[in-house]
Amino acid sequence: MGRRPSWDDVAPASLACPTCRLPLVGAVGGLTCPGCARAYPVSDGLPDLAPDVPDPRVPEGGGPLRRWLHRRAWQPAVRRWTGIDEAVEAGFLARHVRPAAPLVVELGCGLGREARVLAGLLGPGRVVALDLSRAALLATRADSVGHGVAFVRADAARLPFVDASVGAVNTFGMLHHVPDPTAVVAEVGRVLAPGGTFTGQVAVSPLPGLGAWSAGGLARACRAAGLVPTVHEGGRGILMFAWCRPT
Ligand SMILES: C[S@@+](CC[C@H](N)C(=O)[O-])C[C@H]1O[C@@H](n2cnc3c(N)ncnc32)[C@H](O)[C@@H]1O
Ligand SMILES: [Zn+2]
Repeated sequence: MGRRPSWDDVAPASLACPTCRLPLVGAVGGLTCPGCARAYPVSDGLPDLAPDVPDPRVPEGGGPLRRWLHRRAWQPAVRRWTGIDEAVEAGFLARHVRPAAPLVVELGCGLGREARVLAGLLGPGRVVALDLSRAALLATRADSVGHGVAFVRADAARLPFVDASVGAVNTFGMLHHVPDPTAVVAEVGRVLAPGGTFTGQVAVSPLPGLGAWSAGGLARACRAAGLVPTVHEGGRGILMFAWCRPT
C-alpha cells in the first residue's frame, strides 16, 4: 500500500502558473505549466513559484537569533504600541475568516503565527502559507510541524492559484511592505471564490520602523478588486479589515 499523501503533497496539486493561471502538473523535481511549459522547482519540498525574484532580506528569514528577537522583542513592542495583542488577533480571525472553499491562503506568512492560528481554527490540510522569503519559509515550516500547514514560495502580487479557487485569504502585516499593495489586492480578488473572505491587518500611519498604506487606499483597492466591506477595526496606527467577494 502506498504512503498516504500528506498536505505537503496535496498543496502543489492546488497550485497554478502565476502567468497562465493554469493548474501545474507534477514533474521530477518540480512542477510544470501545461500552458507556457515553464518549470517551477521544488527543492527541500518547497515549491518555488517565483524563481526569478530574489529573496527579500527580512528579519523573518534571518538566523535563529534574529527570528527570536523579532518574535520576542520587536513584535511584542509593536503590539504594545498598537494595543492589538495576540488574543485580539486570534479573536478577529475566528470571527471574520469564512472560507467559501477548502483552500485558505496566508499571504506573507513570516514567522507563521497566523497560519498556525488558522490551521487551529479550520483544521489541518486547509492552510497554504505563502511568502517570498525562502529562508523564512524553511524556518517557519520547521516551527510548524504538526499543524498541517503547507508552505509555498511565491510573490503576493502574482498568486499561484486558479481564478476563484481559494476559500479565504488572510494577511497580517504585509501590505504596507510591498511596493504595489493594490496589485496584491487585485490578485486576492481574482483568486477568491464567491463568498470568500479577505482579512488582514495593515499599518495605516507610519509606525516606528514600518511603512504604511492608508485605509482609503485599501478600500479603493478592495472595491476595484470586486470585494465588499464587512468590517474595519482600528488599533493605534493599525487597521484590521475584513472584506468579502460577493456570491
Ligand atoms: C512583517 S512580515 C509578516 C508578518 C507575519 N504576519 C508575522 O507575524 O510573522 C512581512 C512578510 O511578508 C513577506 N513578503 C514581503 N514581500 C512579499 C511579497 N511580494 N510576496 C510574498 N511575501 C512577501 C516577507 O518576506 C515577510 O515574511
Ligand atoms: Zn504558464
